[in-house]
Amino acid sequence: MPTIRNFSIIAHIDHGKSTLADRMLELTGTVEKRKMKEQYLDRMPLERERGITIKMQPVRMEWQGYVLNLIDTPGHIDFSYEVSRALAAVEGAVLLVDATQGVQAQTLSVVELARSLHLAIIPVINKIDLAQARIFQTAAELKNLLGCQDGEILQVSARTGEGVEKLLEEIIRKIPAPPEGALEPRALIFDFEYSTHRGVIAHARVFDGEIKKGDRLKFSAAGGNFIVGEVGFFKPEFSPAASLKAGEIGYVVTGIKEAKVVRVGDTIFKEGSRLAPFSGYLEPKPVAFSSLYPESEDQFDDLRRALERLKLADSSLFFEEESSGVLGRGFRCGFLGMLHLEIVAQRLAQDFGVKTIVATPSVKYRVKTRRGGESDIYSPHKFPDESEVSEVLEPWLALEILMPPETMGQVLKLLKEHEAVIGETRKFSDSRFELRAEMPLGELMRDFFDELKSVSSGYASLNYEFLEMRPGDLVRLDILVAGEVQPAFSKIVPRRRAQGEALRAVEKLHKILPPALFALKIQAKSLGRILASRTLKALKKDVTGYLYGGDRTRKMKLWKKQKEGKKRLQSEARFSIPAEVFVQMIRK
Ligand code: GTP
Repeated sequence: MPTIRNFSIIAHIDHGKSTLADRMLELTGTVEKRKMKEQYLDRMPLERERGITIKMQPVRMEWQGYVLNLIDTPGHIDFSYEVSRALAAVEGAVLLVDATQGVQAQTLSVVELARSLHLAIIPVINKIDLAQARIFQTAAELKNLLGCQDGEILQVSARTGEGVEKLLEEIIRKIPAPPEGALEPRALIFDFEYSTHRGVIAHARVFDGEIKKGDRLKFSAAGGNFIVGEVGFFKPEFSPAASLKAGEIGYVVTGIKEAKVVRVGDTIFKEGSRLAPFSGYLEPKPVAFSSLYPESEDQFDDLRRALERLKLADSSLFFEEESSGVLGRGFRCGFLGMLHLEIVAQRLAQDFGVKTIVATPSVKYRVKTRRGGESDIYSPHKFPDESEVSEVLEPWLALEILMPPETMGQVLKLLKEHEAVIGETRKFSDSRFELRAEMPLGELMRDFFDELKSVSSGYASLNYEFLEMRPGDLVRLDILVAGEVQPAFSKIVPRRRAQGEALRAVEKLHKILPPALFALKIQAKSLGRILASRTLKALKKDVTGYLYGGDRTRKMKLWKKQKEGKKRLQSEARFSIPAEVFVQMIRK
């Protein structure tokens, strides 16, 4: 056991975690050269397609007589819950910083978390092969952040492999071996997956004792008893082993088929164990809510099953049944951010073949009505009419932004456009300022993140946390197509921006909606009146094509018939909007 080292790599998105993990897999001979491909640990097709890590992935490497257990984590802020779970299962963290980007705002809070868990932190500067690498400045920021010395900071190129061997040696030297633990088995479930014939497979960090096939164990919180079907390591594929001992990271096949009861953060131990269960993880709080409806109503049960399956691998996903007159039966879902929402919608379609109508995402509002009622509203189409509302409270965030001083003017302008209250500024390092501000969550979701990147050429970064609920002057904006309100397009907007938002929404829908056989009126309504309107021309079908020559009267006859037909269509048919249009509407 003194030869085990458990660690995670923490880094901002795109700073090179997965690439560094690749070099480690190669160097330690964990993955054969001929099987090696870039970002090997990103195993989901979607991760490979988009080039980002969504799920944490553990892998066991053996090197120079040591066992090195790495848990690779995602870098995007929407998935920080994965990071917190991974960190609770290890003794150390490699803090990887891109030398061309420097320390990012979000990294500050991850470092704080690692410190609160008393992890050993190894600061590493990556991408030193690049000409524009700012090694000296990045080192200064790391020293500032961690209070460490120059000699403690390593330099690597995850691309060329330079410095990676030295980093492995440092991991062995600096990260403590896992503690011995008690004799009785006890393990923390940091993740799990579901297999149709093997049931729940728990990803576990064993803290005490030993777990082996045939052991009779139980989940502390979920309560289910089970007989261990198999244990093993992640290489990163499942690789069966005789047992998992204290200090090890591996998988436990439970055979439990009732997937819904199992939760991450749960403890597995023996029935009647004298050991206390682990305190578990904080429940992640969804920030963005959206209603998902199956494109065709008979797929409702498929959608439910798909969401249940997704929730197994992604405990931060929240959903409950909801019904809306026009859209039928669907689910109100909670997400950790817009990327999370997009990924879920994409996985439902790609992995489960269920296309969904995604309603405009919303935050949670507390609405007080004139009649004295008070309720939480997540679905904009259920937001009461203006005349009934007495007060609306919306969630506010505390923001922390790191940026080069020369981008400050642009960033401040952007913050004002997003209704922010500017706080204090301080010098973070020679090349970066830190700025604090407060902003409604709804404004953050209005593409603030992307716009911040764009006005700072990618150099400003952001971290945020929930502050409190505050009153806001907000109204509902409805979109009508062919005279009918489309609840999925409704959204809540600040009153003074209602007109602008109305014009924007109508223009956008006009651009992306495919034309129908009859003219479609697209309108935006708020504050009791139509604020914007456009008509989408009908698809013109040539009904006289087969007539050549100049028989004008016959053509006229046919055109008249077509016109009557369209009128009938318009009055009878309910225009149905394709699922893709809904996803495009929430994109920029
Ligand atoms: P997420 O998983 O999405 O958070 O990103 P990541 O931190 O895993 O970053 P990833 O390994 O995907 O690398 C991001 C980009 O940087 C890729 O295009 C890599 O090829 C590139 N990259 C990573 N390390 C280096 C390096 O040392 N030098 C250079 N030149 N490029 C690198």
